[in-house]
Amino acid sequence: MNSLYQYTSNLFNTTNYSRLTREAGALFHQEFALNCYVKLPLFFNDDSFAILKTEVLKIFEQHSRRRDFNMKHEKNTPRHLSTVSGIAVAEHSQIIPDLYRDSQLIEFLCGIAGTQVSLVPDPFDRHVIHRLEKIGDVHGGHLDTYAFAFAIFIESPPAEAGGCLEFVPHSMEISDLDTPLAKRVGHNVGDCYLMKTNKTVHRVVPLGEQLKRTNLIFTYADDETININMSYSSQPLYG
Ligand SMILES: [Fe+2]
Repeated sequence: MNSLYQYTSNLFNTTNYSRLTREAGALFHQEFALNCYVKLPLFFNDDSFAILKTEVLKIFEQHSRRRDFNMKHEKNTPRHLSTVSGIAVAEHSQIIPDLYRDSQLIEFLCGIAGTQVSLVPDPFDRHVIHRLEKIGDVHGGHLDTYAFAFAIFIESPPAEAGGCLEFVPHSMEISDLDTPLAKRVGHNVGDCYLMKTNKTVHRVVPLGEQLKRTNLIFTYADDETININMSYSSQPLYG
């Protein structure tokens, strides 16, 4: 599975994203500053995405744990999903932690964010896998501990099946979700997004059909959050 990194220069979709530089990322900065969110459709080239998908699904099948609880820290919003912790991913994958640390990817994300994007100190939270798959599965409203999430859609149900991402740019109030202030966005397999997750309340809307919604999620810090050693959510979600 080291093959992904034998071809680093071809990792990303060079048709859509010609060079992964800070300058190329900066083309998205205005949109990111406005919405706290940028979608990056078909971010990887087909071959590297296929390798990544195979790796994520293999690790998920072997190391995921079902989680059903309400998050006390976040007004008891519900969590009904399966997860793989960053620690388990690091133990069983080479390519996922390598991709998380990829200097081209981080430079590109720095350009989008308009600030320094750094690896997070909490090893449980760094690179995680989430899957919603049962009717009613949900990742309830919350803010993240660290500043940024870069999410990769490995499997995604059609929009009418539920499971879309909902967020309220620049709002830290859970009560703003499910109001006219909220934006709802669907994603196709292969889409990615970057979100300012500690200043933008967000959730995954409940699944209405029995279909898989599987994300690989990379968590990054900004200068304000780099010194937080542990996320409030890492033990309940990944411990
Ligand atoms: Fe989040």
